[in-house]
Amino acid sequence: MKRKLVIVMVGLPARGKSTMARKLGRTLELDGIKVRIFNNGELRRKLDTDEDASSSEFFSPANARGKDLRERISRQNIEEAQAFLRDGGQVAIMDASNVTRERRRSIAAAFPDQALCYVECLNADEEALEANLERKAGLKEFQRLSPEKALESFLKRIAYYESIYEPLDSEANRILVDSFDSCILQEQIADVLPYYDRIRDIITTRVVRNLFLVRHGETHYNREDRIGGDSDLTDKGLEQANALAEHFATVRIPIIFTSNYKRTLQTATPIAERQDPCSIIALPEFNEIHGGVCDGMTYEEIRQKMPHVARARGPNKYRYIYPEGEGYKTMEDRVHRGLKKVFFLNNYDENIMIVGHRAVNRMILSSFLSRQEEEIPYIYMPQDRYYHIQIDPHKRLFELVPYKSSPSTGGRW
Ligand code: F6P
Repeated sequence: MKRKLVIVMVGLPARGKSTMARKLGRTLELDGIKVRIFNNGELRRKLDTDEDASSSEFFSPANARGKDLRERISRQNIEEAQAFLRDGGQVAIMDASNVTRERRRSIAAAFPDQALCYVECLNADEEALEANLERKAGLKEFQRLSPEKALESFLKRIAYYESIYEPLDSEANRILVDSFDSCILQEQIADVLPYYDRIRDIITTRVVRNLFLVRHGETHYNREDRIGGDSDLTDKGLEQANALAEHFATVRIPIIFTSNYKRTLQTATPIAERQDPCSIIALPEFNEIHGGVCDGMTYEEIRQKMPHVARARGPNKYRYIYPEGEGYKTMEDRVHRGLKKVFFLNNYDENIMIVGHRAVNRMILSSFLSRQEEEIPYIYMPQDRYYHIQIDPHKRLFELVPYKSSPSTGGRW
């Protein structure tokens, strides 16, 4: 068996290749394997060239100068990967679109003594793809352009890649991955590859570097013990949002995911303002449990005016569905879908923050814990603390952290 491995990422832009490459790289590294990622896009951004890569024309197959530069970048990364493997490296990950057979052949030819495995990333989820395109169009590379022009340019870039895309077929060792669902769609492995079982595990296992699960600050409805609605934060709630902003000021958070409700956006806004830069992405999947006919009522009013609801919900809170509304059980699918979006949209090695609601946060937390369903609607979800979650093959951490009393964490994460 060959002892060194070259993983070649394949896929159109915005299909989650780099996130998958980082997840593979970081986890193999934690296993003690000497691994390095060679990313063509990053090298292009580092090189000081005259080419304007925010213009889609740079990626046109008809643009000889652009093509030449991209080939040079690919060669440089291949040479660096060769040197890395020569000097004791064990796994090199070639992170680029690698959409043509010619490109893939040139990589294979450069590593005749190493095992090669192609990982092709697909994402068939239109909504997640669209959100990812919007996020990418906001990147530094496009800062000279308006958001609409940036998106247009990025879509054109993808169309150029699509026009030359040759899917994997003759390559001996290949895995087709749905990067949104973190699952393997097809695999064809002809050789005995080093670390292969581990690679399969990593692709399909969720790894969480740092997830900060925050409940929104106090609202007028909270104060009156009312459920649902779309109430604003109280002064105390705004103070809590500011305290969170202060607490996280030195912790890098590039994206904050919220629901569509004002209370989560009002909590996230001061936090985002203390970050540079930070975008807020509102996901309807994280909207609070819908109370149906009870929406806007206090728990006491429900007991008085709709005793049948209170009686039925009490003993069976997880499975109970509010008339014309939702229950914990019926939220499962949408909350899990929201989480998949979060992991797809967030760069693998960046911290993640979700500002959600009491019931939604319980569902999010429970998706990482093995809890009996009856316990989930009673998970403690206070407004003066947040959950800090870390999960990798070597560690599982769930801690409830108070944010008011403690000063800025000074780069703890
Ligand atoms: O009271 C705040 C709230 O987020 C309501 O909007 C929601 O109905 C409720 O919490 C969920 O908690 P429980 O399931 O314990 O009633």
